Amino acid sequence: MTDIGIRNERPEEYRAVEELTREAFWNLNVPGCDEHYLLHTLRRHPDFIPELDFVATLNGELAGSIVYARSAVETSGGQKRETLTFGPLSVLPAYQKRGVGSALVRCSLKEAAALGYGAVLIYGDPAYYARFGFRPAEAFGIATAEGSFHPALQALELVTNALADCAGRFFEGDAYHCDANAAAEFDKTFAPKEKFVTESQRRFARLAGLPEPE
Ligand SMILES: CC(C)(COP(=O)(O)OP(=O)(O)OC[C@H]1O[C@@H](n2cnc3c(N)ncnc32)[C@H](O)[C@@H]1OP(=O)(O)O)[C@@H](O)C(=O)NCCC(=O)NCCS
Repeated sequence: MTDIGIRNERPEEYRAVEELTREAFWNLNVPGCDEHYLLHTLRRHPDFIPELDFVATLNGELAGSIVYARSAVETSGGQKRETLTFGPLSVLPAYQKRGVGSALVRCSLKEAAALGYGAVLIYGDPAYYARFGFRPAEAFGIATAEGSFHPALQALELVTNALADCAGRFFEGDAYHCDANAAAEFDKTFAPKEKFVTESQRRFARLAGLPEPE
């Protein structure tokens, strides 16, 4: 039997959750990963939302994590509309495919709605996020910051019609900016881990429209 619990992250487990995030993302999208550093910096960013910082436990053990930050759509009419963005979303590889990721997403979206947020925009794999009701942001006329429609950019209304009349461009702000050199230095404080090219990196490159790794 699996007993999944969802609760707010505690400061004393920050490092353990960064370890977990590193395990989940290591060699997934690129050789190595930066997501544990991103999480580390995101928690101190003004756009970070502590009420939506959740961990999942599986039979009492830390198994997953999700965090949110404020983001925005700038409409073609020049208005700024606040949205939410989540990520990193991580589940320890040993605990994946047992419903932990879905529980984190569903529970945090429910809490976000209860807090009064209207809509969530994320970059992620549509094959995973469609099950939670996410649709291509293009369906709402929302493009990337660069002005193109991208299949990885997906949107979910928490309040009906929250994204009506919201056509424009999506900005994550600098909350999700990650300094690669600082991330590499931060990674040195963790146990060494081998970097290599994986099939998931090729899939990620195709989804992101980047050159595939050799
Ligand atoms: C994505 C992730 C959070 C899902 O967590 P999880 O606990 O395994 O998810 P669940 O058990 O709730 O759901 C598992 C289902 O999602 C599917 N799934 C997981 N990642 C997927 C992906 N990238 N694309 C399509 N389906 C995916 C699994 O195949 C499984 O499908 P099934 O229900 O048909 O068997 C976890 O795999 C993870 O941490 N991955 C590495 C980091 C990552 O990719 N984070 C998301 C960034 S956008």
